[in-house]
Amino acid sequence: MTRARVPLLLLFGILFLASLSVSFGIVHQEHQQSQEESEDNPFYFNSDKWFHTLYRNQYGHLRVLQRFDQRSEQIQNLENYRLVEFKSKPNTLLLPHHADADLLLFVLNGGPVITLVNPDGRESYILEQGDAQKIPAGTIFFLINPDDNEDLRIIKLAIPVNNPHIFQDFFLSSTEAQQSYLQGFSKNVLEASFDTEFKEINRVLFGDEEQQGEESQQEGVIVELKREQIRELIKHAKSSSRKALSSQNEPFNLINRKPIYANKFGRLFEITPENNPQLKDLNVLISYVDMKQGSLLIPHYNSRARVIAVVTKGDGKLELVGQREHQEQEERWEVQRYRAELSEDDVFIIPAAYPVAINATSNLNFFAFGINAENNQRNFLAGDKDNVISEIPTEVLDVTFPASGEKVVKLIKKQSESYFVDAQPEQ
Ligand SMILES: *[C@@H]1O[C@H](CO)[C@@H](O)[C@H](O)[C@H]1NC(C)=O
Repeated sequence: MTRARVPLLLLFGILFLASLSVSFGIVHQEHQQSQEESEDNPFYFNSDKWFHTLYRNQYGHLRVLQRFDQRSEQIQNLENYRLVEFKSKPNTLLLPHHADADLLLFVLNGGPVITLVNPDGRESYILEQGDAQKIPAGTIFFLINPDDNEDLRIIKLAIPVNNPHIFQDFFLSSTEAQQSYLQGFSKNVLEASFDTEFKEINRVLFGDEEQQGEESQQEGVIVELKREQIRELIKHAKSSSRKALSSQNEPFNLINRKPIYANKFGRLFEITPENNPQLKDLNVLISYVDMKQGSLLIPHYNSRARVIAVVTKGDGKLELVGQREHQEQEERWEVQRYRAELSEDDVFIIPAAYPVAINATSNLNFFAFGINAENNQRNFLAGDKDNVISEIPTEVLDVTFPASGEKVVKLIKKQSESYFVDAQPEQ
C-alpha cells in the first residue's frame, strides 16, 4: 500500500511541478521578449549591468562602462574610448587626481565647481547643467558639489593616452580605497626630495597606521566638506556663462544656445569640432536631444561619427539598422534590426552609417558624444529638410524603386515636418 502510494504521490508531484514550470516558462518568455531584444543588442548597454564601479562610498560613486570593443565586433574602432559616470551628494569633494587619459566632461545634473591645477597656477569654474569641458591628460583636478540639496551627475568621455582602452586615476591622497601615488616612492627618494625625515612625511602625507583622529585616513576619494570650506574654495571661481579671459580649457554650454533642429516635437543641440577648439582637439562632437512624448526622431544616419549616447531622462524605443551577410547563402545580404527599450542611464551606440530612429514613449532626453566627428554629416532619410533621398534625381529614383520616380518623389514630399515628427500620425 504505502509502497505504491509513494511513487504515485511522487508522480503527481512531478506532473504538478512540470505543469508549473511550463506555464511559468511561457509567461517568462512573453515577458522577456522585448527585453531579450535589448539584451541581445550589442549596441545597447543597460545601466545596471554594464557599468563597473571604480569607487563607491556614502557620498557618491565613480564607474566606468564596459569596453565597447568587448561588447561588439562591429564597433572595434571605439576601443580607445571609455565612458565614465560620476555621481556625488551635496557638499562633497572628489579629491585631487589626474588620469592618463584626455577627458571630456559633461554636466548632466547639478552645478559643480571644477578646479584644474597646473604648475603655473589653477583655474576654477562654476559649471552648470549642459556645460562641457576638456580636462587634458595628466591635469590634476578636483570637483566640488557645492549645492546643499542637489546631487551632481557628470558623464565623461575618457581617451586613454598610454594604452588603448585602459586608463588609471592617480590620487594624491591615501584613503581606504587606494594609496597615494607618492607612497610608491622609496623612503630614500622621499626623504631626499622633501628634505624631511620619513616619519614626518609619513605622518603628514600618508597618515600613520596607529594615528587616529584629525589626521587619520579618509574613507574614500569622495569626501564631505563643510559649508565654510566650500564658500572659501569657490570664492574665486569663474562662472561659465561669464566671458572670462579666454583660456584653452574654458567650459562651454551646449543647451543655452539655439538648437540646430527644433519643432513642436523635439529639439537637437549640437556643437561640432568645426566650431569649438576643445572639441576640434579631440575630434569629438557633443549633442543633446530633447523629445516630447509621442514623437519620433526620424530615420537618419551619421556619415562618419560614431555616437555614444546616454539617456538622461525618460523612456524610448530605439531601432538601429545594420547589415550582414546571409548566414547560409553567400553573396546575399540581409538587414538586421537592433532594437532597445531605453530608460534613464542606459547607454547606446550608433555606428557611423547605420540608420537609426528613436520613438519617445515619454518625454525623453539623451546626451551624446560623437567620435570622429570632423566633417560629419547627419543625413535624414525622410522629412522635409536635409533629406538625402530627395536629392537623388527622379530618373535614378525611377530605376531604384519599383514605382515610378514621380510616385517616389510624391511619397517623399508627403511628410511636411523635418527631424522630429508625430510617432502616431492619424492616417
Ligand atoms: C511609438 O511607441 C508607441 C508606444 O509604444 C507606439 O504606440 C507607436 O506606434 C510607436 N511609433 C512608432 C513610429 O514606432
